[in-house]
Amino acid sequence: MPLVTTKEMLKKAQAEGYAVGGFNANNLEIVQAIIEVAEEERAPVILQASQGAIKYAGLEYIVAMVRVAAEKTTVPVALHLDHGTDYLQNIKCMRAGFTSLMFDGSKLPFDENVALTKKVCEMAHAVGIPVEAEIGQIGKAGGDEPGVAIEKAREFYAKPEEAKRFVELTGLDSLATAIGTIHGCRTPFAKLDIPRIKKIRELTKVPLVLHGASGCNDEEIKKGIAAGMSKINIDTRIRMAFVKKTREVLKELPDEIDPRKILGPAKEAAKEVIRDRMRHFGCSGKA
Ligand code: G3H
Ligand code: ZN
Repeated sequence: MPLVTTKEMLKKAQAEGYAVGGFNANNLEIVQAIIEVAEEERAPVILQASQGAIKYAGLEYIVAMVRVAAEKTTVPVALHLDHGTDYLQNIKCMRAGFTSLMFDGSKLPFDENVALTKKVCEMAHAVGIPVEAEIGQIGKAGGDEPGVAIEKAREFYAKPEEAKRFVELTGLDSLATAIGTIHGCRTPFAKLDIPRIKKIRELTKVPLVLHGASGCNDEEIKKGIAAGMSKINIDTRIRMAFVKKTREVLKELPDEIDPRKILGPAKEAAKEVIRDRMRHFGCSGKA
């Protein structure tokens, strides 16, 4: 079916108490993996591309690949811009065919984040495209030990009252909140601030988005959804599975020169991660 927006998809997830996966892709095999699993699981799905993915694959290629894949399926697929830190990037994506946007002004002072998010919302809403925006700052796993990184992130957690004002002032459609995860975690050590999620959920009413969810174990995912998360983003786990399998195949078949024999198994490995996450998010069977 043609691409859909994230608006109805996330409202349904919020009303029924599950989360839709926002899975990142930057090449053909991962796009196929995400959409094939969505079809097999009968799950609505959000395929997202970051600015880095767009730079790598090319805007038109991403849109074309996802459109073709979505048209071959019978489940709802949305194409979402992930962490668009630039107003013009949001416009370009919308023009190219993205059906959901994110403006990430989390590193800006509150008032500037409000002003730019509002501007993106006004532009996108004029043509029915929903916008996700970020409050607090979701950091990145860097050189620190996991425990240290998570402690440092605490300083940038979303403040519930500020989240409320942010939603009211911008008119955004879904809210990414810094509440205990950081991006790029290869081990599941994140501990969600559940009371904070519940408070934000109560004050804002919009669907909430959990970023950096590769760092959450199954128990944290379950608690996060129960507390009000309606979209959960996964990138690192897919990359890890894809590259691990690539390495294994190359080790086993060092003389192989057919990319299909290397990337085919890598795609299958990515599919298993995506399937497992969808089942834990509760979106399997919800299409
Ligand atoms: O925006 C993308 C996600 O938040 C992905 O996070 O790489 O830690 O899974 P992750
Ligand atoms: Zn993110």
